[in-house]
Amino acid sequence: MKKVLRIILSLILCGAITAGSAAAAFAAEAADPLTAPALHFGKDGRFRIMHVTDTHLHDDNVADSLRLIALACDKEKPDLIMLTGDIASEDTFEHTRELTDKLMSVFESRKIPVAVTFGNHDSENGAYTREEVMALYTAYSCSVSIDDGEALTGCGTYLVPLCSADGDEVIFNLWVFDSGDYDDEGHYANTAEDQVEWYKEKSLEAERQSGRKIYSLAFQHIIVPEIYDALEKTEIQTAFSYKRIYAEDEYYRFSQDAVNYGMLHEMPCPGYYNHGQFSAMAERGDVLAVFTGHDHTNAFGVKYKGIDIVNSLSTRYNGDTFSTQYGYRIIDLDEKAPDKYTTRVVRWYDFVNSAEVKALTVKEDESLVSEIRFRGFFQKTFTDICVFFVETFTGRKVRYPD
Ligand SMILES: [Fe+2]
Repeated sequence: MKKVLRIILSLILCGAITAGSAAAAFAAEAADPLTAPALHFGKDGRFRIMHVTDTHLHDDNVADSLRLIALACDKEKPDLIMLTGDIASEDTFEHTRELTDKLMSVFESRKIPVAVTFGNHDSENGAYTREEVMALYTAYSCSVSIDDGEALTGCGTYLVPLCSADGDEVIFNLWVFDSGDYDDEGHYANTAEDQVEWYKEKSLEAERQSGRKIYSLAFQHIIVPEIYDALEKTEIQTAFSYKRIYAEDEYYRFSQDAVNYGMLHEMPCPGYYNHGQFSAMAERGDVLAVFTGHDHTNAFGVKYKGIDIVNSLSTRYNGDTFSTQYGYRIIDLDEKAPDKYTTRVVRWYDFVNSAEVKALTVKEDESLVSEIRFRGFFQKTFTDICVFFVETFTGRKVRYPD
């Protein structure tokens, strides 16, 4: 009888251990260190991302920039702020902390989730590391950002899953990549091989788990090198064509045969070495668009191999005429149509002239708003005239809807 009891007890113990390991495995899977807690589509089935990038906050632009960003949050009511680098990089960590805190307070006070990754300037002075800067962000309860630690090159490569409004089914993915700063030879960096491998594995895993491709968007600071394959090469410089970075006598402009958005305003600056990120995305077929910053005046997109390569404007206002045309980008997703997204660019000049923003501004905003209206009118008119003459006299289209 004792023997039978022993057998029963050992079977129970064995079952408990097996169940325990399965639970542990599930827990390990659920708590993937490079996957943020899922965000959810709203009850209306919509999810709105505000792309904020290249704020380059300093003492002389922080007040105006943050007031505009706060107004933009109140107008657009985003479900997520995507911050893609070159945010605040002062000489000392304390100074950087001070500016970062001011920025994050805008989002924290409004309870808007924030996903951050870094650019080439965020830790370039060597006075502090990317990891130390990341800790400033992850200290906020609104942050969904992840320090990927030793797992991957850089700091700030992770996945943000978007689930259905009323459940835990993953509908959409947001890939966040730290595209680095500089390579050993001083060129701009690119997303590294191990980050690309991580993406491929996670992308395959997402497809296996759900039984279908999970459509997604990617966000990072530095544009992919394939941008130059998507543009048209010219031997001489023409209006709205730009010399290729790291090349001589090569100029690039919108191809009239491509699907283009917005306007090319300066030379795109990808890294020198290509580690296969874009081709991996094209092969997997789950990324609809890759959004970048870095080239402050470029608000454009080009469809290439089924993926939109999109650049967003610097989201700051420096108190000068030129930055009246800076601003932010809105990206809207629909739970019922996860294979599509819509996007629009909002420039500060247009922003302060919108009826909704007029209703949101208070007396203290008056001088900022009237300055942007005044300066912005001249900058916008100048650009409109240039575009009109170039398009009329060359027969080439240089500006498309954003
Ligand atoms: Fe940059």
